[in-house]
Amino acid sequence: MIDLTKTWVITGTSTGFGKSLAIYLAQKDDVNLVATARHTDQLAYLDQYDHGQILKQTLDVTKQDEIAATVKAVNDKFGGLDVLINNAGLGYFGTFEESDRDAVRYMFDVNVWGLVDMTRAVLPTMRAQKSGIIVNFSSIAGLASFPTLSFYHGTKHAVEGITDSLAQEVADQGIKFMLIEPSGFRTDWAGRSSQKAMPKIAAYQQFADSIEGSKTGAHHEAGDPDKAAAIIYDQVTNHAADLPLHLPLGKFASDMAIAKYEKSLGEFKAERDLSISADQPE
Ligand SMILES: NC(=O)c1ccc[n+]([C@@H]2O[C@H](COP(=O)([O-])OP(=O)(O)OC[C@H]3O[C@@H](n4cnc5c(N)ncnc54)[C@H](OP(=O)(O)O)[C@@H]3O)[C@@H](O)[C@H]2O)c1
Repeated sequence: MIDLTKTWVITGTSTGFGKSLAIYLAQKDDVNLVATARHTDQLAYLDQYDHGQILKQTLDVTKQDEIAATVKAVNDKFGGLDVLINNAGLGYFGTFEESDRDAVRYMFDVNVWGLVDMTRAVLPTMRAQKSGIIVNFSSIAGLASFPTLSFYHGTKHAVEGITDSLAQEVADQGIKFMLIEPSGFRTDWAGRSSQKAMPKIAAYQQFADSIEGSKTGAHHEAGDPDKAAAIIYDQVTNHAADLPLHLPLGKFASDMAIAKYEKSLGEFKAERDLSISADQPE
């Protein structure tokens, strides 16, 4: 009988989407689960499921040595790696002018470079297997933009562009990608995982309420991370052949994605003659 067990590696499983995915996958017989976290003592919730197919691994995605140790541990224990979920991520609320440079650079280290370094670490294994799926957590913020999130948008737009290009580079190696683009989900993201810089400049006081609202709205979002986990598992397991590159999750994400692309399409079409007029004559 062919063994269809797949090995899944998830970053950032202490809370939120990562935890929901880890709990969902821990209950599947066809999954070897590698649950990673900066502090593995936060993964005690997995102990009730431990049946020899679960590996807990210390991983801060900004630390190259921990990334290398994780990929080695996965290959040693499970002999390969089929699905990488690049989930770990932070937020930052503040106006462009008033955002703290070091804090937003660190967010790029986690949201962009952490995802990049994890991906580069697993690609040799996936290329050798000629198969693999990488699920990258973007956001509706990777497609559409709102005030006070400029640098968060920067990280998620970077994830979108890097993923789309890389997907084309490795398509003939049997490696596929899916970008998860959620709207607000009930996790720790808007709370402890997002710094907030309240406006001090008078011209930006108009944004104080929305930044304050991101604090008070935390844990009241519409999105259910347990439902997201089930959808992601189903897409990867049952729809791998026609995996969507983009998957907005939540009604607001779907509405915003459609509105944003319809608006852009209308602009591109209206500008068509002007756009073409910039080329040299043939
Ligand atoms: N929730 C939403 O509304 C929403 C919407 C769109 C996109 N997203 C994206 O969803 C992803 C998961 O976030 P979440 O909503 O589940 O929020 P969350 O509950 O705050 O979870 C964030 C996870 O990232 C981990 N993390 C942070 N820095 C890390 C690092 N340097 N190395 C490894 N792990 C690190 C955290 O670990 P610690 O416990 O150690 O801090 C935590 O496990 C993020 O990429 C976020 O941008 C969220």
